[in-house]
Amino acid sequence: MYLLAIESSCDDTGIAVLHNGNILANMVAGQDVHQAWGGVVPELASRAHEKNIVPTVDAALKQAGITVSQLSAIAFTAGPGLVGSLMVGVGFAKALALSLNIPLIQTDHLVAHVMSSLIGKPDFSFPYLCLLVSGGHTQIIRVDAPLKMEVLGSTNDDAAGEAFDKAAKMLGLPYPGGPLIDKYAKDGDPMRFPFPRPRAEKYDYSFSGLKTAYLHFINKQTPEFLAQNLPDICASIQHSIVDYLFIKLKLAASDTGIKTIAIAGGVSANTGLRNRLTQEAKTNDWQVHIPAFEYCTDNAGMIAITAWYQFLQRDFAGQDAVAYARGG
Ligand code: KG4
Ligand code: ZN
Repeated sequence: MYLLAIESSCDDTGIAVLHNGNILANMVAGQDVHQAWGGVVPELASRAHEKNIVPTVDAALKQAGITVSQLSAIAFTAGPGLVGSLMVGVGFAKALALSLNIPLIQTDHLVAHVMSSLIGKPDFSFPYLCLLVSGGHTQIIRVDAPLKMEVLGSTNDDAAGEAFDKAAKMLGLPYPGGPLIDKYAKDGDPMRFPFPRPRAEKYDYSFSGLKTAYLHFINKQTPEFLAQNLPDICASIQHSIVDYLFIKLKLAASDTGIKTIAIAGGVSANTGLRNRLTQEAKTNDWQVHIPAFEYCTDNAGMIAITAWYQFLQRDFAGQDAVAYARGG
């Protein structure tokens, strides 16, 4: 059974091909057009998806070594995300499924980030806790079975990825700044500049206070000081975000007694976060799942694996499926 999956929730056009639960192709066409604007411009993103989607589908099918007529189902991200971007993927998926007379599968982007832990690991043990950290979301999720999950904690305001990106912007780094903070942090001292750990209920987070702390700190420095101490500043910012993430994750793990931990979402590509998870795994006797880089940031592989489990449950969508901005 071959399945084509489409991810177009933000600024990456992702196309994947799956064969009986295995990913054969996972292609992403990025969009450089946003860099000059310091963030994703929704209208430009939708147009870039329109331009990229057909060539990316062709490339993914070629890599998988199949033709479009061999497909048995088409999956797409319905939301949450930018509605204009999503509509490009939704419309394309509907048209393709209709023309091939095969089922459509509607997938939730956040569920898919969490399900990315199962790529190449069908025997992954349940229950597990997933720390989902992306540009739009920060959540601790309990996963009891494929597609069966419960959110234990969420951010009350900004997401962890936004904290990275906004700190980077304050330092004059281009968008998206998360990977650049990661890069500079590698040569820096994470303990040099202390930042607070904001208060929030139980397993919830609040990143807006941290963002204000970065702003106060950066505003007090001269441009020369910032330039000369960039590695230490980035390492300290990264440490404050990662340490805060782990305070709540460890609390959830000890309260629930769950010792299998996964990370997902764009920020799970962060070196500091990945190293800390490896270290915490040893200290706490955790089994951990650290996804391959290509499955951390937005990708269609995670949509494909989610859709595969939905396919097994015959969870199909109709031609009246609609894109949604929030919730799921
Ligand atoms: O999951 P994702 O690709 O898109 C959303 O659904 O939001 O996550 C994008 C976020 C951005 O904020 C980006 O800066 C962050 O992930 N990110 C990183 C790294 N790679 C991506 N943040 C810190 N370190 C990284 N290496
Ligand atoms: Zn995402």
